[in-house]
Amino acid sequence: SPEPAVAESRPRVWVSQPLFDDVIGRLDEYFDVQSTAQVSEYAAGEIAAHLRQAHGAVVTLNERIGTAEIAGAAHLRAIANVGVGYNNLDIPALSAAGIIATNTPDVLTETTADFGFALLMATARRITEAERWLRAGQWQQWSFSSMLGSDLHGSTLGILGMGRIGQGIARRGAGFGMRVLYHNRSRLPAAVEGQCQASYVDLDSLLRQSDHLLLVLPYSPEVHHLIDASALSKMKPSATLVNIARGGIVDEVALAAALAQGRLAGAGLDVYEGEPQVRPELLALDNVVLTPHIASASLATRRAMVTLAVDNLIAALGEGPQAGRPAT
Ligand code: DGY
Repeated sequence: SPEPAVAESRPRVWVSQPLFDDVIGRLDEYFDVQSTAQVSEYAAGEIAAHLRQAHGAVVTLNERIGTAEIAGAAHLRAIANVGVGYNNLDIPALSAAGIIATNTPDVLTETTADFGFALLMATARRITEAERWLRAGQWQQWSFSSMLGSDLHGSTLGILGMGRIGQGIARRGAGFGMRVLYHNRSRLPAAVEGQCQASYVDLDSLLRQSDHLLLVLPYSPEVHHLIDASALSKMKPSATLVNIARGGIVDEVALAAALAQGRLAGAGLDVYEGEPQVRPELLALDNVVLTPHIASASLATRRAMVTLAVDNLIAALGEGPQAGRPAT
């Protein structure tokens, strides 16, 4: 079929989801923008059809973009992902096609670390479980022995993945009087460890020693199901596990079994293997706090993420004053 016509005058940009109209509107200065008015779920072929028409795109983690989606996208030069994680993008495929990919680090660090801590506290102190119980009319009288949780202060916080967000969580943990351990692909410089009051340990020690373990590492196939039945069996039965990274890092079937059998006290999950589906085994459990991938969802931070994505795209397409931020 003939190559679709692309306007010669101005580059074309596709925006895959409704973001902030006023922020996205800044693209109008340089590009012909086609943005989507409602939250959309795309089949692979639909994404490909949009990208074939575009020089650049602003996308979210809902859009998976790989070889099939960029096939025939002869004009496509840059994709700005609204998110720090970019496992929705097949970076080798994009690089091979000469397409720049950008992400939105830094602007969401503190908001996401705040949320990780909120999810940790909700899990350790059984806040959502207690609220469900109260709303169900089960609170008869003040009880000495119901809804007993575990303390943060004086406990050991384990952080798996010590990038910007992991460091933010470490600082919060130290502020709450926790002993902070971490494991990371590479050990941090002593000065950074000092600022975070965090000590490096190997993964095995992290699993065995943590009272509360937070997962904050980027997803890649190498860490798929890193937290599997064997890893979970090393954790204390009194421990809590919180995942604000990506669902695929945890074997959810093994996690649900450990939670159901009392081999792990509780879990707080913001991310899932098959989003937006949540496994029935998890939904059936009381000792898991489930949130719908909202760790970066403060109004100010979501605006900042879109602002950065817009800046990134303008720079990557060679317009405007700013430098690009390649994701790789
Ligand atoms: C990210 O940025 O990677 C989050 O998962 C979505 O904000």
